[in-house]
Amino acid sequence: MIVITGATGKLGKLVVQNVLTRVSPSQLAVSVRDSTKASHLADQGVRVAQATFDDPSSLREAFKGGEKLLLVSVDNFENAVKQHKTAIDVAKEVGIQTIFYTSHIGADLNSPFLACQHHAETEKYLSESGLQWYSLRNGFYNEGLPMMLNNPAESGAIYAPEDGPTSWTAHKDLAEATAILLTDESKIPKDRGNLVPLTAFDAVDFQGIAEALSQVLEKQ
Ligand SMILES: NC(=O)c1ccc[n+]([C@@H]2O[C@H](COP(=O)([O-])OP(=O)(O)OC[C@H]3O[C@@H](n4cnc5c(N)ncnc54)[C@H](OP(=O)(O)O)[C@@H]3O)[C@@H](O)[C@H]2O)c1
Repeated sequence: MIVITGATGKLGKLVVQNVLTRVSPSQLAVSVRDSTKASHLADQGVRVAQATFDDPSSLREAFKGGEKLLLVSVDNFENAVKQHKTAIDVAKEVGIQTIFYTSHIGADLNSPFLACQHHAETEKYLSESGLQWYSLRNGFYNEGLPMMLNNPAESGAIYAPEDGPTSWTAHKDLAEATAILLTDESKIPKDRGNLVPLTAFDAVDFQGIAEALSQVLEKQ
């Protein structure tokens, strides 16, 4: 059985949809903070458990019987590492064999980007867990771009932080790739060890983004 956390989140929801095209609902369990948001999954025969990373006993129920766990990282700067460690401890306790963790490209203990430090800390904990694990190092979400660019479609200008080529990646593509890795072990790259980068093919800078937006919006 595959267990997926964060299954009502933006990425988790799409992974669940993709996984359900590959395995039967009885082979899937989800761990969500609010089970009413996952009633459509329960109706399809997916096991739905209400659990949070702050309550190990709720996770025990949600993870039991699982062989593989997709641990979708949380988005907070205060407790993320502690919460991820709790999930990993419980996974080990209940006999999960393999953890897939949603990390970030460039995860590093010395990264100036705090989220990347947290992902690296979680990866270190996974490496010490004794479990089989893969860290899916996701590219920067496309969906984060508008926030950074200050609504360029209206202003006609891009105001951005320091530029550089970035592999902006869509949730949709990440979800499909994650579902493939979760359901077909033969697709896990053999030459990368535990770290699996999942990014768009091309890295583009803000000039490239401006050109693409101009084309889509048909204005300069
Ligand atoms: N690569 C990137 O550019 C990038 C950008 C932003 C974030 N991220 C990372 O990718 C993750 C997934 O992204 P997303 O877009 O799917 O974000 P999201 O929609 O905020 O998903 C986060 C999920 O974590 C769950 N969660 C939060 N706190 C929890 C807790 N204490 N216990 C159990 N579950 C908890 C949320 O539950 P609910 O559904 O109940 O809210 C949600 O399903 C983020 O959380 C973050 O770590 C990556």
